[in-house]
Amino acid sequence: MSKNVIFCYSGTGNCLDMAKNIAKELGDTDIIMMRKAPVKTDVSDAERVGFIVPCYGGGLPGDVEKYLDSIKVAPGAYIFGVGQYAGYLGCGLHKIDERFRLNYWCGVSHQCSAIWLFPHQLMLPPVTPGMAQKRSERKAKKIAAAVLSGENSKKAPPKMRLNALESKVWPKLAKAKAKKFDVTESCVGCGQCVRLCPRGNIQLVGGKPQFGTDCIQCLGCLQYCPKEAITLTEKTVRREHYHNPHVTVDELTQDIIHFD
Ligand SMILES: Cc1cc2nc3c(=O)[nH]c(=O)nc-3n(C[C@H](O)[C@H](O)[C@H](O)COP(=O)(O)O)c2cc1C
Repeated sequence: MSKNVIFCYSGTGNCLDMAKNIAKELGDTDIIMMRKAPVKTDVSDAERVGFIVPCYGGGLPGDVEKYLDSIKVAPGAYIFGVGQYAGYLGCGLHKIDERFRLNYWCGVSHQCSAIWLFPHQLMLPPVTPGMAQKRSERKAKKIAAAVLSGENSKKAPPKMRLNALESKVWPKLAKAKAKKFDVTESCVGCGQCVRLCPRGNIQLVGGKPQFGTDCIQCLGCLQYCPKEAITLTEKTVRREHYHNPHVTVDELTQDIIHFD
């Protein structure tokens, strides 16, 4: 087992990009993906354990909260958390802190991928995509330096009761919205969306994707579609697509990514 472990959920690459950038600075790091149940949960031999997650509907994405309960860390391990969001941090880091007592935590605003709900430029403070990426890379270096020096955050992550309520409603909204997925004639039936969906919610039927309702609205299918053929209402046709420029579909679908 590596000296450092980072548990990461990422729908459109921002959090995985952050995890990779931090791992490069830390060295000897396993990034364990939580898009599905993590393949390794007992990390009690790791010295530092990180959690890097996006805010989804005010809380944690998909089944991440459930997965947290299966993770075992050493009592003396240094624990850090990074929450990525567009406009507000939400209660995700607080939920992690409740279970693992974060030594250090940080929130980072980046491009929003919930294309039907918000324009991407919702980030706070509002910046261009290139500036957001650079800001995130600068933050990764700062976070890694803080983790390497064993820095302790002065305050615990905020509880955000309203966001905790919002996160209870969000999964129902996400499922209902999934009925509106459609595919245009540009679809070539490559099946990348099937491979990428963290819920196994997409199937190819007659060479075209068919969507179920077990959807958490990560929109990886839509944002990474090489033909921009997947739509979710008119809004998504009009709005620019986005996924992190440094994260590939192959990386997102790995179980563990190791950095020496
Ligand atoms: C389904 C969904 C819900 C989101 N909900 C929120 C939210 O409640 N508040 C917020 O500030 N950002 C929200 N965002 C924005 C993400 O937190 C932000 O885009 C993050 O960088 C995505 O990380 P990823 O690319 O690793 O998935 C949401 C994004 C998605 C896809």
